Amino acid sequence: MAMFDVVTFGSAVIDTFVETEFNEKSNSFSYPAGSKILVNDLKSDIGGGATNTAVAFSRLGLNTGCVCKIGDDNNGLDVLNMFKREKIKFLGSIAQGETGESIILDSKGNGRTVLTFKGPGNSIRLSEIPKIKTKWLYYSSVLGESFKTQVALAKKLKAKIAFNPSEYIIKAMDVRPLLKLTEVLILNKEEAQLLCKKYAPKGVPAKAGKERDLMVCLREFGPKIVVVTDKNKLAYAFDGDKKYSIKPNNVKVVERTGAGDAFASGFVAGVIVGWDMNKCLKLGLKESESVIRYFGAKNKLLRMKLR
Ligand SMILES: Nc1ncnc2c1ncn2[C@@H]1O[C@H](COP(=O)(O)OP(=O)(O)OP(=O)(O)O)[C@@H](O)[C@H]1O
Ligand SMILES: [Mg+2]
Repeated sequence: MAMFDVVTFGSAVIDTFVETEFNEKSNSFSYPAGSKILVNDLKSDIGGGATNTAVAFSRLGLNTGCVCKIGDDNNGLDVLNMFKREKIKFLGSIAQGETGESIILDSKGNGRTVLTFKGPGNSIRLSEIPKIKTKWLYYSSVLGESFKTQVALAKKLKAKIAFNPSEYIIKAMDVRPLLKLTEVLILNKEEAQLLCKKYAPKGVPAKAGKERDLMVCLREFGPKIVVVTDKNKLAYAFDGDKKYSIKPNNVKVVERTGAGDAFASGFVAGVIVGWDMNKCLKLGLKESESVIRYFGAKNKLLRMKLR
């Protein structure tokens, strides 16, 4: 049985970017009802946390597999062809029906609204995953049955876990059993605060306002390394001993979808090959900046061998 460096587990969807002229007003967009709205541009690409990060890892020269669930439609075929092109081993399953899809309503500013159809992505059972050996598992957000399977697989494989939970799974699921098994936890500031507020473990200040308090709080859940990103503000990493940070450069944001996935997979790839924290942060930053300069969550992910 081949040994993977990393197997990603999460969603595989089609991202459709709709470029509109709408402006954000008091945190929302409004579209006139009953009218036909002309859009400036429409682009599609393969997205979803599991495929975005698998492409990042594979392009960095890591032997990569991907657990996700797609439909038996043309979109599902596109996903499988992309895996072949990118030298990623598909370790998931194909369900009857449609592959998941996200409609990303981009506006004039940097705001966007995502309408997301999960498809079969949240119904992955442990029995659907082939026998595998991997050094690392990279978990992006999934709900329901798939989340339970992530926990079960983590226990079964005893691989190291990197976990990038999003707001909706922190709200919907009890992620603590998974955090206990996690080596590297990466999330944005809002997600980090939400997690600490929801559980506030003993001995940790609930306010968790300062970065260090926040990261101390997150480490109490189990992860050895925690990383907190905050858009164009400093990104922090903490290993329980030292705090590291990196300042994002002033880049022109063309389309920000996939920024978080790119940062997280770059950082984790560095950890996988044994780099120090500063070097890992630099690679995360480089990946995310490359992605936000262009449409699509994975088009401009870096191609280079880490070892
Ligand atoms: N406006 C920006 N300018 C420069 N860099 C950015 C900007 N937005 C994001 N980044 C880069 O991407 C990283 C991750 O962004 P962010 O903190 O928004 O993650 P996220 O909220 O998890 O994103 P996602 O919505 O993709 O999940 C940042 O740490 C930074 O390196
Ligand atoms: Mg994110």
